[in-house]
Amino acid sequence: MTDMEIFLADKAGFCFGVKRAINTAFETAGKGKVYCLGPLIHNPQEVNRLREAGVRTVEDFSSLSPGDYLIIRSHGVPPQVLAKARDKGLNIIDLTCPFVGKAQRDAELLQKEGYQVVVIGEKQHPEVQSILGYAGDNAVVVETAEDVEVLKFQNRLGVVAQTTQSYSNFSEIVLKLLSLSKELKVFNTICHSTKERQDAARVLAGQVDVMLVVGGRNSANTTRLVSVCQQEGKPTYHIEVADEIRPEWLQGASKVGVTAGASTPDWVLEGVMEKLTRGKVG
Ligand code: F3S
Repeated sequence: MTDMEIFLADKAGFCFGVKRAINTAFETAGKGKVYCLGPLIHNPQEVNRLREAGVRTVEDFSSLSPGDYLIIRSHGVPPQVLAKARDKGLNIIDLTCPFVGKAQRDAELLQKEGYQVVVIGEKQHPEVQSILGYAGDNAVVVETAEDVEVLKFQNRLGVVAQTTQSYSNFSEIVLKLLSLSKELKVFNTICHSTKERQDAARVLAGQVDVMLVVGGRNSANTTRLVSVCQQEGKPTYHIEVADEIRPEWLQGASKVGVTAGASTPDWVLEGVMEKLTRGKVG
């Protein structure tokens, strides 16, 4: 273990949108009753810290009272949800990431221009659900290139992406849509931070023996980083915290790469780096 070299990806961990959401949520805690609609970020460890600071997670706001604070997380919500929360007299702290906001506005524009909106992303992901709220009743979600073969499309298609999509999945689907539409308008709404993290993970995976990807198991951008590293043909392990590292994963490895999703707090990533660099594994 002592000869093992540890490398951290050039871009890893908290992105601009998540940093802003976390900082504002901690600032708001203590101002009154503060609730977040769904976990603020897909990282259970950080959500626990927020709970301790007074930010409680709720799945709906029916039991909240006028004047209570309601945080809208970086994934955003459909406009109907926002309107309902306003009508209820809640103090809304809207932390929708500006890049997600751009995808929502693009979807709305495409819909108004008469395109059938295609959202490339994960159907159940809250960000995709928030974009769909702006995309019109005939919008469809496409997760994989195979979906294109079975779904029904109109002749004029307008495309946006979940901000954490991988560029390769996005472009493969767009290419397929091109072959079956008469008119195709595409907004590449993949977030720059996402792409930077994926590119850095790919480069690092190419240079090491094993990759560790740190982040919530329910975090879309973290699981995407895992696939990116696996596509480089490297053994890749997804962990949430340092204690999950198993010595056998690193057996015989002389170079270990580490990266982290955009919703992975610095203190979690630092814990992993410290454990590896101090040779405390096992
Ligand atoms: Fe926003 Fe991109 Fe992060 S969309 S929340 S800056 S991954």
